[in-house]
Amino acid sequence: MKYVERARVKAERLRELGRAHILAVESSCDETAMAIVADGRRTLSSAVTSQIDLHAVYGGVVPEIASRIHVESLDLLLDEVLKNGDMAMGDIDAVAVTNGPGLVGALLTGVSWAKAFAYALDVPMIPVNHIEGHVSANYLAHPELEPPFVCLVASGGHSHIVLVENYGRYRLIGQTVDDAAGEAFDKVARVLGIPYPGGPLLDRIAEEGNEMAFSFPRPKLDGKYDFSFSGLKTAAINKVHTLEQQGVLIDVKDFAASFRRSIVDELAGKTIAAAMELKAEKVALAGGVAANRLLRREIERMGGDKGRKVYMPPLSLCTDNAEMIGSAAYYGLMAGKIADLSLNAVPTLRWIG
Ligand code: KG4
Ligand code: ZN
Repeated sequence: MKYVERARVKAERLRELGRAHILAVESSCDETAMAIVADGRRTLSSAVTSQIDLHAVYGGVVPEIASRIHVESLDLLLDEVLKNGDMAMGDIDAVAVTNGPGLVGALLTGVSWAKAFAYALDVPMIPVNHIEGHVSANYLAHPELEPPFVCLVASGGHSHIVLVENYGRYRLIGQTVDDAAGEAFDKVARVLGIPYPGGPLLDRIAEEGNEMAFSFPRPKLDGKYDFSFSGLKTAAINKVHTLEQQGVLIDVKDFAASFRRSIVDELAGKTIAAAMELKAEKVALAGGVAANRLLRREIERMGGDKGRKVYMPPLSLCTDNAEMIGSAAYYGLMAGKIADLSLNAVPTLRWIG
C-alpha cells in the first residue's frame, strides 16, 4: 500500500473513534509554532519561537529571514513539545500544517516539514487554513462553545465578520474593502514612532491616552457590515505629518487612544449589529487584533447590553500559534479533509466563498 492509502485508512479509523492527538505546525509568518492538541479541544503541549527581535531592526517582517528561522526551529520545537507533553512520536495520530494564507517561503518550510513527518511516521496529514485556525482558537478556550456563532476575525491581513454555521462552514457577512484592521494599527503606530510590532504597543500606550483628543472620519460604505480602514489610516498619517510640519508636539498617548477608538467602534459596532440581525446568541473574537484591550472590553460591553454571550481566546491564542491549527485540524480530519504528499503552500488560500 502507498503512503496515501495507509494514511486514508488511519484517518478513517480516527474518524470512527472521534479521537486524535494531532501535532500541529504553524509557520505562515514570523512565529514558528508547534503544539499537540487532543480532540480539537485540549492542548497537551505547545511551543512558539518568536522572531520579533530579529525583524524589529528592519521595522517589519523580512520574509527570507522568517523562512530561515522556521527551518532552524522546527526540529527543536518537536523535541520541546514532545518533552513538555511527556509524549513520544508514536503517540501522535496525525500531523496538521498551515498551508495558507501567508508568506510563501515561510509556509513552505512548515508544509515540507509536515510532509516529511507524515511520511516517516505514516500518519495522515491535515492541511489547515490559517484564518480557520484563528476562529478555532475559541474552541480551545471555551470547550463548551459550539456553532452557530458570529465571529469577528481581525488580523494583520484580514478583517471579516462571518457566521460560523458549523465546524468548517462559514458564511461571509462582511469584510474589509481595503486594509485590514491590524495593518492600519501597524502603519499608524509606525508614523507615531512606535516600534514594531506596532499594534500591541499602540494598544498599550492608548490605555493612558484621551480618546477624545483627536477625531477621525468615519467610513461610509455600501455593505452594511463591510469595513474600510484605508481612509482612517491615511487621515491619521496625514494628521501626524501636518502637525509635525507645524512644529506641534503630538501627544502619542492621546493620538493612539483616539485612533484605537475609531477602529474599535467600527469593529465592535458592526459585529454586534450583525449578531443582532442574524439572531445569533453567541459572538466570538479571533485573530491578532482580538488581543486589543479596548476591542475586548467593547465587545464584552456591547454584547452584554444586547444579551449576547461573548467568547474570546486568551491573548496567547489570539496571535499566531499552533494550538489553533491543531483544533481546526481535528474538525478537518473528522470531515475527511486529509492531504497527500503533493500538498503545496498557497499564499492566497481562500477560506470562504
Ligand atoms: O493574527 P496575527 O498574529 O497574524 C496574522 O495572521 O496577521 O495578527 C497580527 C496583527 C498585527 O497587525 C498586530 O499589530 C495586530 O494583529 N495586533 C494588535 C494587537 N495585538 C496584535 N492590534 C491591536 N491591538 C493589539 N493588542
Ligand atoms: Zn494570524
